[in-house]
Amino acid sequence: MEVVILPGGRQIASVAADAIQALLKRKADAVLGLATGSSPLPIYDELVQRYEQGLLDFSRVQGFLLDEYVGLEPGHPESYREVIRRDFTGRVNFAPENVHGPDGSASDIPAACRAYEDAIRDGGGVDLQLLGLGTDGHIGFNEPGSSLASRTRIKTLIEQTRRDNARFFHGLADVPHHVLTQGLGTILESRHAILVATGAQKAQAVHDLVEGPLAAVCPASVLQLHPHASILIDEAAASSLKLADYYRHSYDHKPAWQEL
Ligand code: F6R
Repeated sequence: MEVVILPGGRQIASVAADAIQALLKRKADAVLGLATGSSPLPIYDELVQRYEQGLLDFSRVQGFLLDEYVGLEPGHPESYREVIRRDFTGRVNFAPENVHGPDGSASDIPAACRAYEDAIRDGGGVDLQLLGLGTDGHIGFNEPGSSLASRTRIKTLIEQTRRDNARFFHGLADVPHHVLTQGLGTILESRHAILVATGAQKAQAVHDLVEGPLAAVCPASVLQLHPHASILIDEAAASSLKLADYYRHSYDHKPAWQEL
């Protein structure tokens, strides 16, 4: 696990976009794992900018969403399929049929979850997975207590997560209680995971993820088992890390040939 402490969201976006640009250079039909929420927005803005400059081509790229609300009608503005189209894929030359997400409106939810796992596998697996971090330590919507080996399935949101996400809806009452999410075992199979977290409200979760024990109570700690995980955080999110100076020193002295 590499922890990179950067001054702010713009620098984080630039480092993450460099990794995506390098991936697409060596693999034009790469598979990207796409997170929604606020944290990846500067990354998507940076990718859009580079696309407009002719530096990136998404025409052969596949995208797999991390998660989706259950029970929102298809096309609902806060369904993650719509959110990712607005925030990213609809602003670049991503083919709409190449953007996949778990079907939160399916009548047979377990079958929809199995189909999503199959689609990821049939697509060749995720090359680069973008992740945000919940204040309770969730990744995807794997809330505390999630099995570290879990696959795509239905989960019930913790009230804190519903409150955190109420800003996207008309109010708390409109936030669904249920979601479909890639499991922690699913996320662990991505070839490279880049987690982004900014702000003091994420400091405890960042501490637990990086320096706490591997434990289902902090689902993101499963990334300690990931062979290639990059944790990109700002100073505020890094403020509870015991070894922050070591992480800074390692990044400052990183061999020039070594990518993220
Ligand atoms: C969204 C997702 C969630 C968010 C997390 C942080 O697809 O998987 O895990 O990444 O809730 O959300 P923000 O970035 O809005 O703080």
